[in-house]
Amino acid sequence: MVEVNVFVVGFGNVGKELVKLILREGQKYGIELVGVSASKGSVLVGGPADKVNLLRLIEKDEKLENHPSFKPGVGSVEGALLTGAELAMIVMPPSYKTGEPNTTIYKALAEAGISIITADKTVLARDYQGFMDYAKKRGVYIGYRATVAAGTPAIDSAKGLRGRDVSSIRAVLNASSNYILGLVEKGLSFEEAIKEAKAAKLLEPDHTVDTHGLDAAAKITILANTLGVRVSIDEVDRSPIEEYSEEEIRKALNEGFRVKQVAFADLVKRVFKVYPTRVSRDDPLYRAEKEGNVIVFSVENEDIVLEGPAGPAWRTARVMITDVIDYLELREYL
Ligand SMILES: NC(=O)c1ccc[n+]([C@@H]2O[C@H](COP(=O)([O-])OP(=O)(O)OC[C@H]3O[C@@H](n4cnc5c(N)ncnc54)[C@H](OP(=O)(O)O)[C@@H]3O)[C@@H](O)[C@H]2O)c1
Repeated sequence: MVEVNVFVVGFGNVGKELVKLILREGQKYGIELVGVSASKGSVLVGGPADKVNLLRLIEKDEKLENHPSFKPGVGSVEGALLTGAELAMIVMPPSYKTGEPNTTIYKALAEAGISIITADKTVLARDYQGFMDYAKKRGVYIGYRATVAAGTPAIDSAKGLRGRDVSSIRAVLNASSNYILGLVEKGLSFEEAIKEAKAAKLLEPDHTVDTHGLDAAAKITILANTLGVRVSIDEVDRSPIEEYSEEEIRKALNEGFRVKQVAFADLVKRVFKVYPTRVSRDDPLYRAEKEGNVIVFSVENEDIVLEGPAGPAWRTARVMITDVIDYLELREYL
């Protein structure tokens, strides 16, 4: 039985995994795929042949515009409206500097009464409360479990700490920078490590979004806001991982330390920063490997440590299904 009609915004790494997952397993949860958009247009799913062709594109890792039913110029909001979608799942690239076109798309979807589940951090990192208020007035759900640590329930943990005395958060939140630092430890140059991370599809198209801390800044901002502290990504100080030389990173390892990109929020003094620093062996952040994230919440003078996988794309897609299940439970109360 179909419980909810879903429109997917974005057909890249995560979008393809998400479409595949919905087409293969959606029935289990009552999720029906009614359309998909990318940067140049949309596919409005008309029948089984459209689904088969989507799966073919995914198998060959091709662009949405190669789909026989591709409608050039039909944007995400128009596509969602034309297909009667109740829920939009957003997996488009971030746009931290201007917020566009992301903000316009989110607002138009919410205005039309379409609930949103997103892996894209842009809008919540720029103005979490403003957008949550906007959505609440329009009675739409916003699910964002995939925005921080994707595979590990970081947002659920932060929600579970509301009302507690959380003084700070220290975390390794950007898998790509962590992966690059790990390769540099092994002897690669930054240039070689970045090339390898790109080949592993771990980097945003503009890799400085990861290595200069914007991605981690967006995540720490969303965590802080989830805990009730109002902050925007613009207030987070950032420095690039390259602030440490390749030699310094390897020297740190020989001395029993590791250089990590640390996202830090002092929720009391309102200090927010992302910076590379040496961490010692007894620090939980030392253990962050490859795509692993580690988050330390300081709560009432004790540390609560959350540790687990972030991406890759297939796992991020699965986490978005958790949001759909949550949505289906909550929608009658919206
Ligand atoms: N990779 C992960 O594991 C992971 C984990 C957590 C969160 N995220 C977030 O998830 C989002 C997607 O990541 P990704 O790796 O899938 O990115 P990606 O591979 O770059 O794919 C982005 C997709 O968005 C489409 N797009 C661009 N502008 C659009 C617009 N205006 N309207 C509709 N679609 C548009 C692109 O279209 P074209 O195909 O036409 O270029 C492309 O299909 C990002 O915000 C990322 O930060 C990713």
